[in-house]
Amino acid sequence: MELPKKFQWGYATAAFQIEGSNSSDGRGATVWDTFSHTSGKIKDGTNADIACDSYNRWAEDIKLMKSLGVTAYRFSISWARIIPLGGRADPVNQLGIQHYSQFIDALIENEITPFITLFHWDLPQALYNRYGGMLMTSEFVLDFTRYAEVCFREFGDRVKDWITFNEPLVVAQLAYGTGAFAPGHTSDRNISQIGDTAREPWRVLHSQILAHAHAATIYRSMAQGGRIGITFNADWAEPYSSIAEDVTAAARKLEFFVAVGADPIFGSGDYPESCKKQLGTRLPSFSEEEKTLVKGSADFLGINHYTTNYIRQDPNPPSDTDFMGNIIQTFTGPDGKDLGPGCGVSWVQVVPWGLRKILQWAHSRYHVPIHITENGLPYPSEALLSLPDVLNDQHRIDYHIEYLNAMKDAVVRDGVDVRSYFAWSLMDNWEWADGFKTRFGVTYVEKDEAGRVLKYWPKKSAGKIQEWF
Ligand code: NOJ
Repeated sequence: MELPKKFQWGYATAAFQIEGSNSSDGRGATVWDTFSHTSGKIKDGTNADIACDSYNRWAEDIKLMKSLGVTAYRFSISWARIIPLGGRADPVNQLGIQHYSQFIDALIENEITPFITLFHWDLPQALYNRYGGMLMTSEFVLDFTRYAEVCFREFGDRVKDWITFNEPLVVAQLAYGTGAFAPGHTSDRNISQIGDTAREPWRVLHSQILAHAHAATIYRSMAQGGRIGITFNADWAEPYSSIAEDVTAAARKLEFFVAVGADPIFGSGDYPESCKKQLGTRLPSFSEEEKTLVKGSADFLGINHYTTNYIRQDPNPPSDTDFMGNIIQTFTGPDGKDLGPGCGVSWVQVVPWGLRKILQWAHSRYHVPIHITENGLPYPSEALLSLPDVLNDQHRIDYHIEYLNAMKDAVVRDGVDVRSYFAWSLMDNWEWADGFKTRFGVTYVEKDEAGRVLKYWPKKSAGKIQEWF
């Protein structure tokens, strides 16, 4: 049994991680520009001013993809290139539109289907300055919707697959909770100053869900004949033991990390009961009208999947922080054994069967088409290796082949409706607060001393993924 004929595959990237040229052609500043230029925020002290230089080298990127045999490419649009100040009354930047428009044309000429992410974390700085960005739901929804509408109008004749938000939970927790990501807002407070008892990070999630739903409504009203979805980070949660408490804790972890964003859209139209019960008014609530708007507001579920954790009940849950649903997360099981081999990045172990399980879980909970919008292996020590050793990335080959086999089992044996697979990433790029040292790419990007890009070197994994398909 094989994957369906129409199955798409390719690589994923995000604008801020690859483009560079952050003030070219009228682009506005984003929160990541500011953050990456703030001392102490990025592990290796780098910024993404040049990154992979894809803003200039886009034709090379396409040539590279063509040589790697892909059928699709998932990339993101930088909001601040389209509307430099971000807001609904702010001017639209024609140069930004032209840039993406020619890129889309060239992809299509090369028979590569564009999958566009509208928001991959690079919020226009002006919106954060004006009202805290996602902290103010009503403003954010209107501004995002306008931006999305401009993109649908300009590119929707050619682009038929849209992803509104990438990993809304990560933005809520890291960008607005711990502050590890831009804009570096640290808070677990209630937004009491506006009479809102919600906690800031949950408000940020809420803003993204509503903005997604409004954008999807507009998209559908434009009748462009395409599909619109949203992507969640969805690692698998394996119960630490078979005792009931651990089994429920693992289920709760998935509810706090995936279903909290996905249930409103693909399921009941509301947050999971477990989250509502534990968070009370710290979680915003949807009005009846909003529930109707949000429910069913996506045609597909995107999942980014990297790893699996053991989950158990925390016997002493912290009274005040509540992101995690009171669970303890480990890679080591009760038998003292790890789930899989590590890779030098603390949050990843290689556990291919976890992909099959999360796909089964998502399928049985939502019954909607699924796109694997990211899956990949970081290898920070590649930064220390010689070129031939970097290119001979056997660990990454094993990872992708095993994960692809697990995906195939989910499709052909379990009947999960998976429509595409995007490996993260096309090339080594700027890994947010980690900088350049953590590398996920199937292509090594050679640079000179000043960080200018010299040459792309596809690694062995690129050829093996192509062969698998
Ligand atoms: C998820 C994010 O969407 C992407 O931007 C990031 O580089 C990868 N995970 C790897 O951490």
